[in-house]
Amino acid sequence: MPNTKQSLLKDLDHLYDGLGANPIRVFDAEANKIDGVVKLTLGEPDFNVPEHIKQAAIDSINNNESHYGPSNGWPKLRQAATHFLKDRYALDYDPDSELVVTVGATEGLHACLDTLLNPGDKVLMPSPTFSLYDQLIRINGAEPVYINTAATDFVLTPEQLEAALAQEGPRVKAILLNFPSNPTGVTYSKAQVEAIAKVVAKTDIAVISDEIYSELTYGSTHYSFAKALPEQTLLINGVSKSHAMTGWRIGIIAGPAELMKRVMLAHAFDVTVASNPAMAGATEAFATEAGRQDSLAMKAEYIKRRDYVVAEMRDMGFTIPEPTGAFYVFAKIPAGCIQDDQEFCYDLLRKNKLAVIAGGGFGPGGEAHIRVSYAASMATLQEAMKRLRAYVTANQSTHK
Ligand SMILES: Cc1ncc(COP(=O)(O)O)c(C=O)c1O
Repeated sequence: MPNTKQSLLKDLDHLYDGLGANPIRVFDAEANKIDGVVKLTLGEPDFNVPEHIKQAAIDSINNNESHYGPSNGWPKLRQAATHFLKDRYALDYDPDSELVVTVGATEGLHACLDTLLNPGDKVLMPSPTFSLYDQLIRINGAEPVYINTAATDFVLTPEQLEAALAQEGPRVKAILLNFPSNPTGVTYSKAQVEAIAKVVAKTDIAVISDEIYSELTYGSTHYSFAKALPEQTLLINGVSKSHAMTGWRIGIIAGPAELMKRVMLAHAFDVTVASNPAMAGATEAFATEAGRQDSLAMKAEYIKRRDYVVAEMRDMGFTIPEPTGAFYVFAKIPAGCIQDDQEFCYDLLRKNKLAVIAGGGFGPGGEAHIRVSYAASMATLQEAMKRLRAYVTANQSTHK
């Protein structure tokens, strides 16, 4: 095994300053060491990929679809994806010039940020938010700027956005939104989206709207940011969450053609194109009625789990904004318990073998909160709630 020549490393760390390992994965690895642990840590559906989607991928392999596809993805998938966006969210995109298939939403976010950002630029984000964004911004030499939304039930208001724009000045290049949100489980109403869009429309700032959880919206209809302000929006979506296909790595970006021309270059230089079997599976997921029914069935299951977890945790004393999407509960630690979220999570893990994520890692506003992922079976959730209740009761009596 070769040793790295140390002098090669000397100029490599300037962009990576502070970009350690993802704290969620660090904690998850810690949890994995504990025998009998119950984990509600990762943002991964627990369902299997539906059979007809698997079959489409198998057919693609058997049909020797083994050559490079066009870098923006196979036309059939682009057509299926634009049809999905039209059918579900009333969005109009041209499959040839306004949509690209990516290697998961992650690569889509990367391609958008690579395209938009120059070193020294700033990106605004309502916080708490998905921790990966921070790293993708900083790897471009740009600066993440958090807008704390804890006081407004984790929804960015136009007033907060205006204040941040005034304070941060001309280097603000983009706003990164995510709804339904990881980690808060909160989504935005049509009126809330339109209010933000009205502020953004007065600027030359791009919005990257990560709507990867759009199909998991509960009790309302998802209203895309791209509907409110298509000319300034790069919309991210995909099949990872809607069809439990996280490991297949298929996402999409849709946006106005002039912008997409540049985004497509960033994508093509990075990965050339997504893989053929995965694209065949995603086509099946987006294009068929069976694909639509799959995500509806998963959604119905998530709603039952959410209702159970929220009722249990509120009863234990957690304060929880109504989770209206995704599969997370973002809960304020009850009074009387350890209030440091990191300490709470490590203590809970050690004492009661339950792993949940500390809220502070998701940015300002997340302190004293925990994120619970309810993408787990009902039996697992029941055991988890039993352990959490036992921990909270014991913790409160020790801290009195
Ligand atoms: C908000 C958000 N965006 C993007 C992703 C990544 O999606 P993908 O697996 O399609 O790259 C995740 C995964 O947890 C997420 O929570």
